[in-house]
Amino acid sequence: MQLIRQGAEAKLFKTKHSGKDALLKQRIEKDYRCRELDDKLRKERTTLEGNLLVKARKFGVSTPKIYGVDREKSEILMEFIEGSRIKDVLNDKNLNLCKEIGKAIALMHENGLVHGDLTTSNIMLQGKELYFIDFGLGFHSRKLEDKAVDLLVFKKTFEATHCNLMPKGWEMIIEGYLQGKGDRAVAAQMRKVEQRARYH
Ligand SMILES: Nc1ncnc2c1ncn2[C@@H]1O[C@H](COP(=O)(O)OP(=O)(O)OP(=O)(O)O)[C@@H](O)[C@H]1O
Ligand SMILES: [Mg+2]
Repeated sequence: MQLIRQGAEAKLFKTKHSGKDALLKQRIEKDYRCRELDDKLRKERTTLEGNLLVKARKFGVSTPKIYGVDREKSEILMEFIEGSRIKDVLNDKNLNLCKEIGKAIALMHENGLVHGDLTTSNIMLQGKELYFIDFGLGFHSRKLEDKAVDLLVFKKTFEATHCNLMPKGWEMIIEGYLQGKGDRAVAAQMRKVEQRARYH
């Protein structure tokens, strides 16, 4: 197994599954959290992430295929996405990808799934296809407010990471969101939450 990345929450290894490249995501111990709580959180997030990755794929958002989830070891074995993070490849020539990102988020929200950690590091591009990953903070919700906060968190990281593509990039994300059956009320609520945060 080859360690390809050490994330904030996990170690990511490239390995093999039935002869194919695979990705093992192993949630690591955090020594600042008390042991029992840490064990519990890692197991819960692993199970949750596995479930949400499968669920999202069922309603048409591309995610890596899941080969196996080991709750006790806090590990998920999944399809290896041979591609790049959107963070590393998004530019003014392929800005249309923003629309596709918005559409995919609308599809998640439409189906009651809030990602919880939308960033361009958690979206990958393989060929022409977008893959969403890192659902460990995701949850089910039909609430306007939850979806609005999901968008706002994304907007904040997007602005910080891709300041050179602002404001167009974000406008295209919202355009895609609305084209893809995203609720106008969610976008409006996001602006409200944003204003509220500003005056606090
Ligand atoms: N299925 C996959 N195929 C290929 N690369 C992957 C896959 N899953 C994750 N990666 C790579 O590993 C990185 C970290 O994965 P992930 O976001 O799931 O873990 P994390 O612990 O939350 O990391 P971070 O703190 O960087 O967000 C991704 O940004 C991506 O580069
Ligand atoms: Mg991540």
